[in-house]
Amino acid sequence: MSSNIDLVIFGARGDLAKRKLLPALYQLDKAGLLPDSTRVAAVARENIDTVEFIKHTSELFKGLYGEDNWDEKVWSRFSRRLHYIKVDFSQKKEFSGLKQWIVDKRTMIYYLATPPSLFGSICKHLDDAGCVTPTSRIVLEKPIGHDLQSSEQVNGAVGQYFDEGNIYRIDHYLGKETVQNLLALRFANRMINSQWDNSCIDHVQITAAETVGIEGRWSYYDKVGQLRDMVQNHLLQLLCMVAMEPPSSLKADEIRAEKVKLLRALRPICGDSVEEHAVRGQYSAGWISGSPVVGYMEEEGCESDSSNNETYVALKVHIDNWRWAGVLFYLRTGKRMQDKVTQVVIVYKDNPHSLFPETEGEANNKLVIRLQPNEGIELEMVSKKQSLKERLKTEKRTLNLDFFDSSGESRIADAYERLLLEVMKGDQWLFVSRDEIEASWHWCDRLLASWRDKKVATKPYSAGSWGPSRAEILIENDNRSWQEE
Ligand code: BG6
Repeated sequence: MSSNIDLVIFGARGDLAKRKLLPALYQLDKAGLLPDSTRVAAVARENIDTVEFIKHTSELFKGLYGEDNWDEKVWSRFSRRLHYIKVDFSQKKEFSGLKQWIVDKRTMIYYLATPPSLFGSICKHLDDAGCVTPTSRIVLEKPIGHDLQSSEQVNGAVGQYFDEGNIYRIDHYLGKETVQNLLALRFANRMINSQWDNSCIDHVQITAAETVGIEGRWSYYDKVGQLRDMVQNHLLQLLCMVAMEPPSSLKADEIRAEKVKLLRALRPICGDSVEEHAVRGQYSAGWISGSPVVGYMEEEGCESDSSNNETYVALKVHIDNWRWAGVLFYLRTGKRMQDKVTQVVIVYKDNPHSLFPETEGEANNKLVIRLQPNEGIELEMVSKKQSLKERLKTEKRTLNLDFFDSSGESRIADAYERLLLEVMKGDQWLFVSRDEIEASWHWCDRLLASWRDKKVATKPYSAGSWGPSRAEILIENDNRSWQEE
């Protein structure tokens, strides 16, 4: 990585900067992964100065890591990198302060942790102020648009000032260790990749269940819904990593090209297939971990009498290509579900003939790729039960590859640490290309339009459950069931 790098965070006083970006940079510094000369400009509208910003940041970190774990040496090195620059993003003239901070010939990384509606104008003002050079990089947070048309507008506006090779679109799921491990698991293990198709795999389940609700963002979320918030980006990216063809190398372009092909092979869910292939849900009041929680319509910030917005989605997806013909991919994601679980389960086909009656009717082999909690991979297998009394009785056993135990590290890096590091290295392999974003919106738009045209109502589910009963039916119709239950 070049050591000639500076970083500018737009929206440095916002939630993302506080929860993820500043802590991630601090951790990178602590791990010795930030170049010595790298400076960080925190840019926001608030009228404070660098001294005050550093004070707020030290309080933030003390809250996060605890006074006992405070490392004064790391903090003093990190805090010397920080500069606060007050900029009203809508005012072109205010960008001159930032321009003065920039040192010639250094690579600038602009991280836009701002509402996407500002992306275009920030890029324009940066360019007008002379802050953009052919080496400048820009990092964009989701959502990039709310449909294909608006995402094209955002991409077009940013693309006027930055080449595609310098645009880093974040999907934080790609920063998770287990998601990256999918590449190693699939493409480094002959045993796995030779059986990764419709001859061996019965079906795949991808689940991203959350226990949190709307978290004070009701009026935003009510215009978005779970399909746009989680499926269009995170779940489809996971699906790509599970189902794409092997890239010819691990170069960013090769990986991203395979993901685009996969997204284009997704069979549309629209018209008459909607009811059979998609379920929308909305949570009502219930219990999570023994405490009562309110329903979606009673959440703080709700100002409507009714809403048909979905907080849960379950989908049955077909991939129309040679490898996956006949294999169903079941995707589901929801707020206020029983547990926080993000995982991919690969369910293998039964044997053609069974020698062990006790294993009949159930998949013998399942590969569980767990993103959270407890990142790791488990392979369920059938093994002989150790016993003298029984002749040859079998039981299910699990081979466990626990990331945390095996890594030897005291912690697993947060997704943003990895992503920031890759931006600094100038490697786009964990970022989403324009073609990917647009292909996934194209697919989601058709489903959203069908829901709208057919006036598909959300099905209620109690907070703390696994979603609406209609989602059980979606999978039970195929004689299968969701994995946690
Ligand atoms: C975000 C969504 O992108 O991902 C949130 O906007 C969601 O609604 C979050 O809660 C989930 O991320 P994670 O890493 O906790 O699964």
